[in-house]
Parts: sequence; C-alpha cells; structure tokens
Amino acid sequence: MAQKTLLKGRVLSFDGSPFEGEPTDAATVNEAVLIEAGRIVALGSADDLTRANPDANVKDYGEQLIMAGFVDPHVHYPQTAMIASWGKRLIDWLNTYTFPEEMKFGSPEYASEIANRYLDLTAAHGTTTMCSFCTIHPESVDAFFTAAQERGQRVVAGKTCMDRNAPEGLRDTAQSGYDQSKALLEKWHGTGRISYAITPRFSPTSTPDQLEAMGALWAEHPDCLMQTHLSEQTDEIEWVRSLFPNARDYLDTYEQFGLLGGRGLYGHVIHLEDRERDRLREVDAALIHCPTSNTFIGSGLFDMNGLISDGHRVGLATDTGGGSSFSMLRTMAAAYEIGQLRGRPLHPAQLLWLGTVGSARTLRMGDCIGNIAPGMEADLVVLNLASTPAIAQREANADDLWEAVFPTIMMGDDRAIADVWISGRAVTHQT
Ligand code: GUN
Ligand code: ZN
Repeated sequence: MAQKTLLKGRVLSFDGSPFEGEPTDAATVNEAVLIEAGRIVALGSADDLTRANPDANVKDYGEQLIMAGFVDPHVHYPQTAMIASWGKRLIDWLNTYTFPEEMKFGSPEYASEIANRYLDLTAAHGTTTMCSFCTIHPESVDAFFTAAQERGQRVVAGKTCMDRNAPEGLRDTAQSGYDQSKALLEKWHGTGRISYAITPRFSPTSTPDQLEAMGALWAEHPDCLMQTHLSEQTDEIEWVRSLFPNARDYLDTYEQFGLLGGRGLYGHVIHLEDRERDRLREVDAALIHCPTSNTFIGSGLFDMNGLISDGHRVGLATDTGGGSSFSMLRTMAAAYEIGQLRGRPLHPAQLLWLGTVGSARTLRMGDCIGNIAPGMEADLVVLNLASTPAIAQREANADDLWEAVFPTIMMGDDRAIADVWISGRAVTHQT
C-alpha cells in the first residue's frame, strides 16, 4: 500500500465561488489533509485524521496556510531570460526583445536549460501547473514537456505557430505549422500529466491559411485546448483591422477559421467590443487576465467585475515575460490594484480562488487540480503568512484569516512559499 502523508496546518479549500454571495462563504478551513498515491484522500480535523491513520507520516505546518498549488494559465516559458526588458509597447517589445530570444530555442540544449530554469523558478513561487506558449521550434515543446514530466507536473503547452510578421528563422508555414503541431500533439497529448494546446500566437503573425490550418487541427482534436492572444493593445487591434479588412472585429479573425470554442483560452481580452464579449460568453471561452503584463506593457485595465458578472470563465496568469513576475502572489496583487483603479477591489478570497480554482477551470481541469478535495491531485502550496518582518508585523494584527493572508498577497514573494507538493511529493525548490 502507498505511504500516507498527513499535513497539518490551516487547510484552505473552496466549495463555491467567492464571486457569488459573500466571498468568505465560499471557503472552508480544515485542520489537516491526508494524501496518498499522489491524491488527496480526506480533509478534516487533525485529531480524527491522526486517529484514523496512525501509520501516516505527519508534517505539521502549524499556523501556515495549506492550499492548492497555483495554476498559471498563460505564460511564455521561453521569455524567462528576457523578463523585465525596459520600455516598449507590445509590437516593439516583441520585435526588440522577444523574437531575438525565442530564436535561440532551435537548440535543444538551450531550450532544456530554460525550461528547467523556468520550472525551478515557478515551483519556488508555488506554481504547480501552467499553460505555456513555446516557440516555433518543436525542440522547445519537447524540452518543456520532458522537464515537466521528470518533475511529475501537470502542464499544458504547444508549439507557437507564426508564418508572417516575424523574423526569418522564427516563421513556419501553414503546412509545417500544422504538421509539426499535429506530430507534437500525437506524441505528447495525454501522456501522464501532459496536455497539448494548439497555439497560433495571435492573428497578426499568422496568415489566414495558417489560421485555417490551426482551426482544422483543432476540429480534428476537439479535446485539446487552443491558446492565443486577443485584444491586448489598441495599436495591435488597429493592426489586426488592417491585416483582416473583412473581419467584423479581432475575435472574428479567429472565429471565421474555427478558432473560437469552449476549450479556447484567450489572453488579455482588454478592449473587447460588445459582439466579442457576447460570442466569447456564448461559447463559454476562457478569458485570461494577465495584470502585471497589462501594466508593464501599458495595455489597459481588464474588466474583471463586468466579465465575471456576465458569466465569463476567467483565470489569472503571469504572462511571463510580458508579465514582470513569476509569482502568482504578485499577480494577485496586481489584479487587486487594477480592480481598485476600476473601483472594484477584489477580496483576498476572490484573488486566491482566481489563482487556483478559477485558473484550473479555464484549463477545463477544475475536477483534478486547483482545489483541495478528496480524489483531486495532491498539488499543494504552503504559505508562511509571516515571511518577512514587514509582512509579519502586519499579520500579527490580523483579526481573521483573510486579514492575515492579504499582506502576503500584496507584499509576499518566494520567501512566503514554505513548501510545495507536486503529485503528493514535497519539492525542494531552488532559486
Ligand atoms: N501577443 C503576441 N505575442 C505576445 C507575447 O509574447 N506576449 C504578450 N504579452 N502579448 C503577445
Ligand atoms: Zn502571452
């Protein structure tokens, strides 16, 4: 029989949405969680679970907060080494910093080095699952999936397809984009905890032929996710309009080629028109909010309140390296600040839910990751709510859990991550 592990602490789980009713009513705090064979077996009182499982290894985290590992549904792992590049707007930033760096991923050695560096950094920040863009090179996908598989991590990724408006060496064609994506999908999708996402970068870097080929591939593999960018910056939207003069709007450049659907993830979605909002909701598409990226590249303020109240499925993501952090805590802080600028501050329960349950649902993985419940996969993060002197002195005055965790959301970094569990195993993280 597999070894049982009993983790004691303040175990946070969600049994409803903190966007419906009182935010705190959606959460439950238990004293212990039992894990076995990579899964959560039970939640409950420490005494009951200890008595019922005298053979379990016990790890006592005291007052620390045990919750589901963070889920980051929009990242570019190949942008790890050029994060925090100064002072450009989206298209200039892509041409000046991003494309030259992505060019390097034809080397399997470099791709593997960065994939491992990225997974080390994100584990150190408490992220256990992510959905990543790779580069146009199949080697970049193999490197990422291999590194994730070695760590037992649930990840989603895909080859980023581009056949125009990108430099020589960073373009495929409609046919080779389709063929390489299909081969990678058949090789990796569903092996262990790996899932493939069909990945046209965004409509400015794909010809109509390539978008059509991506749509055809998705139709042949409807169980795959599809990820792309939508409506991030106003000048980008103008560019899309000039490249696709017959499209009704930006979303239509995807919709007309079969790239709109309920397993689609659309990053940024800031400057949406009414028709776009309606269609995205009708098909139950996933909208991914990337707040540190949106402030860093100067893109705009995501309408969290309006989109959630209209019934959209929303996740929270770093967008590393357009985003300026690997940390989902920092990302929650930025989401809070954008909410304030829109007059709608998010409650800590909503922020933690978005970075776990909400994001897992955008990946259609809400039944196996992003929460703590019997049967779910044991991917956990343990937060030290007093990780620095500044945070500790504020936390010491807190009247309840939400007041205790909010300083860590606003001021915490990798020092707040006491431990990370992936597939029921404690991960020793390195930075
Ligand atoms: N739009 C197309 N590619 C990218 C990218 O790599 N980062 C961001 N933030 N937006 C994009
Ligand atoms: Zn992105």
